[in-house]
Amino acid sequence: MLRTIGLMSGTSLDGVDAAWVETDGEAIGRTGPTLTLPYEPALRRDLRRLLDIADGLDAADPFLADCASHLTRRHAEAVGQLAAAAAAAGLGAPALLGFHGQTILHRPASRITWQIGDAALLRRLTRVPVAHDFRSADVAAGGQGAPLAPVVHAALARALPKPLAVLNLGGVGNVTWIGADGALIAFDTGPANGPLDDWVRRATGAAFDRDGALALAGRADAGVLGQLLAHPYLAAPPPKSLDRLDFDLALAAAGLDALSPGDGAATLVAFAALCVAAAARHLPGVPLQWLVTGGGRRNPALMRALASALEPPVRPVEVVGWDGDALEAQAFGVLAARVVRGLPLSLPGTTGVPQPMPGGRLEGWVG
Ligand SMILES: Nc1ncnc2c1ncn2[C@@H]1O[C@H](COP(=O)(O)OP(=O)(O)O)[C@@H](O)[C@H]1O
Ligand SMILES: [Mg+2]
Repeated sequence: MLRTIGLMSGTSLDGVDAAWVETDGEAIGRTGPTLTLPYEPALRRDLRRLLDIADGLDAADPFLADCASHLTRRHAEAVGQLAAAAAAAGLGAPALLGFHGQTILHRPASRITWQIGDAALLRRLTRVPVAHDFRSADVAAGGQGAPLAPVVHAALARALPKPLAVLNLGGVGNVTWIGADGALIAFDTGPANGPLDDWVRRATGAAFDRDGALALAGRADAGVLGQLLAHPYLAAPPPKSLDRLDFDLALAAAGLDALSPGDGAATLVAFAALCVAAAARHLPGVPLQWLVTGGGRRNPALMRALASALEPPVRPVEVVGWDGDALEAQAFGVLAARVVRGLPLSLPGTTGVPQPMPGGRLEGWVG
């Protein structure tokens, strides 16, 4: 098994999650310490601005290069801290990093998915070989390039009763269906924390709606919700995936901006949950339970809305012993090992790629 550190910076732009994990890419051995290194407000703001201007942005743009360098240095700090924690726990030094980078544009229909981050710089700063660029090969082959964690969800869920649905609530939501027959189906459900974070920042200046306080004080607007639910994405069958900003126009057109801060937050929470209910209708059956991972599981308003929108029990992944703050980071450690071994990162059922698809690139790896 390889000792890896997986690194994930999701579309919420809240920070980098890092996790020490021992793996051969198929099974997971020991798991070690995890951490989230938050982004300082200036970096978060710059990354958010990059999303707005990414379309048509020159790859040599100095602002872009500056963001990528800053982001990479923050990742190197995370690796340094986590490697120290692993050493203190008697675990070995990492042999490989899984560096997802930051998605700033995702348009698979145009065969574009763009993650920024400088793998050579990360390798230099940490002196650990780096697996990176996990999504390009899938998208080039006609896949959605997302989601990629499902193969790892399936590995983790090997001993759990099935069928099972794993729901990751990041900036965007994504579901993994693991069938009793071993079937694996995955796709993005719809917006999750992303538009809610944007709304709360505009309304109150806070980075997110801590503990769902704002949403719990408001009421979902039925008119706005009705318009949003008519969005063609929800009815479209998988495979499908979303750019972080894909619903921004629809949200504006539905009249979200006319709502009070609390009602707007409540409406976005209800919408995120109803997107998951719409996703459930594309699944081959009803799962025994929904296991929820990602920062959204910390939002009681969202968890409550999910419980009323879905039939089976909705529980945080902690009930089966997983770590919902670190799961995606652990997944990129496992995926890094898969890159080294040339194993598929994606499957027809998870991204719509025509056949199981290896991918990723290696920086500094001497096999
Ligand atoms: N205590 C909390 N209350 C409400 N929302 C929370 C809380 N903690 C985290 N979140 C939400 O989770 C998001 C981060 O989730 P994360 O899984 O890191 O997403 P991503 O993978 O997109 O970065 C935050 O931006 C916020 O919206
Ligand atoms: Mg995050």
